[in-house]
Amino acid sequence: MRFMNDTVLTEIPVHYNRIKDDTERLSFQMNSDLLTGSLLKTLVASKKSGRILELGTGGGLATSWILDGMDQQTRLLTIENNAALWEIAKGQLSDSRVEFLLVDGYKWLKEYQGEKFDLIFADAMPGKYDLFEETIQLLKAGGMYVIDDMLPQPNWPAGHAEKAEAFIQMLETRNDIILTKLKWSTGIIIAVKK
Ligand SMILES: C[S@@+](CC[C@H](N)C(=O)[O-])C[C@H]1O[C@@H](n2cnc3c(N)ncnc32)[C@H](O)[C@@H]1O
Repeated sequence: MRFMNDTVLTEIPVHYNRIKDDTERLSFQMNSDLLTGSLLKTLVASKKSGRILELGTGGGLATSWILDGMDQQTRLLTIENNAALWEIAKGQLSDSRVEFLLVDGYKWLKEYQGEKFDLIFADAMPGKYDLFEETIQLLKAGGMYVIDDMLPQPNWPAGHAEKAEAFIQMLETRNDIILTKLKWSTGIIIAVKK
């Protein structure tokens, strides 16, 4: 089974390494990993003319994968509250299909009243552990909610493991989503809204 492996050495987004270098200079260590990026690219490619939301742009590593999966009609809105990271992402990923918002995700989630989304990658506290109800309401029927970092990570603070467990239990008891947990990459959950 030579080709059935987890290696993602081809088709890494062209901006990937420059973003990695720039974010490392800021000592930012929360970049999404390569496998997650590859999965996001694949899932996003299923959403033709779609609307994608990313909560927690960081320096744009996952954003670069998402953009590579999007067709020309698909639009991405990505949200970040750290100006230095936002500058990196916006500077490296100039593309008319994406809007980079420098805003507090809590405030944005409470106030947003626009069109719903076909896929949400929730990679910040707001949208995941906080304001989950508001976030899932922003998903169209058939839309995908995707999260990573659900397996224990070296940078998890004390108490976070319990928080993650409780969050997974909450997801599993909901009857408005269908979910699969992947013990792969950093731990992925994909939930589809009924
Ligand atoms: C796990 S990192 C995202 C990493 C990103 N997916 C990548 O590939 O680089 C979480 C991001 O959420 C941002 N964040 C944290 N709290 C936020 C908030 N209240 N509003 C918006 N962004 C927030 C952090 O600054 C950080 O960049």
